[in-house]
Amino acid sequence: ITATWSIEDAEKGGYPHYMLKEIMEQPRVLFETYTGLVSSREVEEAAKLIAEAGSVFVTGAGTSFHAGLVFAYYMSRIAGKPVIPFISSEYAVFKNIDHTGSVLIAISQSGETIDTLQALRGFRASGGRVVAVSNVVGSTIPRESDIAVYTRAGPEIGVAATKTFLTQVLTLSMIALATALYSGSLTKSEYREATERLKDAGRAASTGINRSIRQVELLASSLRNKTNIYVLGRGLGVPLSYEAALKIKEVSYLHAEAYPAGESKHGPIALVEKDFPVVFVATPPEAELLEKIQSNVMEMKSRGASTILVGTSSYLELEGVDFAIDVGSFDEILAPYALVPPLQLLAYRLAVVLGRDPDKPRNLAKTVTVE
Ligand code: G6P
Repeated sequence: ITATWSIEDAEKGGYPHYMLKEIMEQPRVLFETYTGLVSSREVEEAAKLIAEAGSVFVTGAGTSFHAGLVFAYYMSRIAGKPVIPFISSEYAVFKNIDHTGSVLIAISQSGETIDTLQALRGFRASGGRVVAVSNVVGSTIPRESDIAVYTRAGPEIGVAATKTFLTQVLTLSMIALATALYSGSLTKSEYREATERLKDAGRAASTGINRSIRQVELLASSLRNKTNIYVLGRGLGVPLSYEAALKIKEVSYLHAEAYPAGESKHGPIALVEKDFPVVFVATPPEAELLEKIQSNVMEMKSRGASTILVGTSSYLELEGVDFAIDVGSFDEILAPYALVPPLQLLAYRLAVVLGRDPDKPRNLAKTVTVE
C-alpha cells in the first residue's frame, strides 16, 4: 500500500496551509486557553503582583508587542492602572531607572526571543519583578521570570503568529480583570460576570470567521494589485490595526501601514489619492467612537480612497464605506476575538492570490534568538 498523503499533509488537517489551519482552530483553542486558565492559579498570582506594583511595564516583539498594547488598553480602562508599553529591543530607554517595586509583563510566544529575554534580565537586575506570558512551558523567558502564565495555544507551525496572538489577548484580559478585582476597580460579582463572558471568546471567533470568510475572498482579489494599504483604528482598534498590517506585510509582502485614525491627518493622508485602500478596524465602545470614525472615513473618502470597514455591527450605519465586513455585535471584552480572524484571513488570502507561501515568508524566522 502506498500512502498518497505526507505526514505534513496529515498535520495540516485537510487545510492547504498551517496558517489557515491555525486561524480556523482559534474557536477551539480559545476555549481551551480559557478552561486551562480558570482551573490554574497563575492568573491570580500574576494579578496580585501587578495590583501591588508601583509602575507596570509590558514588553514583547512583533505580534507579542501588539498583545501587550491590548493589555495596556484593558488595564487602563478596566483596572484604572496605567501600563507603560515598550518594544523589547528598546529596553535601553528604561535601563537607567531603578525598577524596585515595579512589574514587567514579558510576552513571548516562544519564550526564547533574545530582545525580550534581555529586557527581562535588565529589569530584574535593576530590582523589578517579571511576569512571563508564554506559550512554551519551560522555555527560557518563563524560567527566568518570577511568575509564568501559559497561553496553552498548542504548537504553532506557521511563521506568522495567529492563534497565539488571540490566546495571548485572552490570557492578558484575564490578568487585567483579576488585577481590577485585587485593586478594587471591580466588585467580585462584576469580576465573575466579566470573566464568565470570556468563556465565549471561541464562539466570538467562530462568528467572526463565519461572517467574513466569503467576503474576505472578494476583498483579497480586489486588493491584489495594490502596493499600499492603510489600516486605521481608534482605542482598542489601534493595536488590532497594527497586528492586521503586520500580518499583511509578513505573508503577502504588500506594504500595509497602521495608524491611530486620528493621527492619519498628520502626514499619512498626503499619500491618499483615488482608489488608495484604507481599512478601518472599528471597535466598541461605539457610543464613544462612531462619530469620530465617521469623520475619518469621510476625510479619506473625499480624497478618493477606497474605504473598507471591518467592524462590529453598529458601524454598518457609517456613510462613505465602499466595502463592509460586519463581524456581529460584541462589547469591548469580546470584540478582538471576532475582529482579528477576518483580518488574519485577509492577510492569508492576499498571500494566496499573490502566489506567496504564507507558512514560510521570506526573510522571517518563527523565533529570533540573535540581536
Ligand atoms: C518573530 C516572529 C513573530 C513573533 C516575534 C516575537 O518575529 O516571526 O511572529 O511575533 O518573533 O516572537 P515571540 O516568540 O517572542 O512571541
